[in-house]
Amino acid sequence: MPDKMSIGIRVNGEDRRFDAEPRELLIHALRERLNLTGPHVGCDTSHCGACTVLLNGESVKSCTIFAAQADGCEVTTIEGVGTPDEPHPLQRAFREHHGLQCGFCTPGMIVRAKRFLEENPDPTEEEIRFGMAGNICRCTGYQNIVKAIRAAADEINATKEAAR
Ligand code: FES
Ligand code: FES
Repeated sequence: MPDKMSIGIRVNGEDRRFDAEPRELLIHALRERLNLTGPHVGCDTSHCGACTVLLNGESVKSCTIFAAQADGCEVTTIEGVGTPDEPHPLQRAFREHHGLQCGFCTPGMIVRAKRFLEENPDPTEEEIRFGMAGNICRCTGYQNIVKAIRAAADEINATKEAAR
């Protein structure tokens, strides 16, 4: 088996190529080879969701995937969601509803919530809790996280309605 493999992924709209060990996890490649430090390592055992990214549009825990498995795929990290000048509705809602305390879980929460609202654009509180169950907040800020996701859903739906 080669020491290193050449891997090409499209990350946040940009084509990137790097060498990685065959056993290297996607989270480590993103953070250490591509300097995308938004996704965090909270557990390394697939429990916390701090490492969540989108892989070809699906939310995945990037500590459960080899970098090699992402070869040829499209990856979105929190760095590819909104900008400081034009934050995503979820980013605005997390700020306005105090959906973060230390912020460690926030990148994964927002990336998962983005996919969740595509799957279920008008969720109940219970559905939000169920849909976000794979993301853990060690500050236990769940009340406000749920509020923020519900508020972002309202904003996204109102924007869609206005565009009709
Ligand atoms: S670091 Fe991936 S789930 Fe915790
Ligand atoms: S805000 Fe601290 S871990 Fe969630």
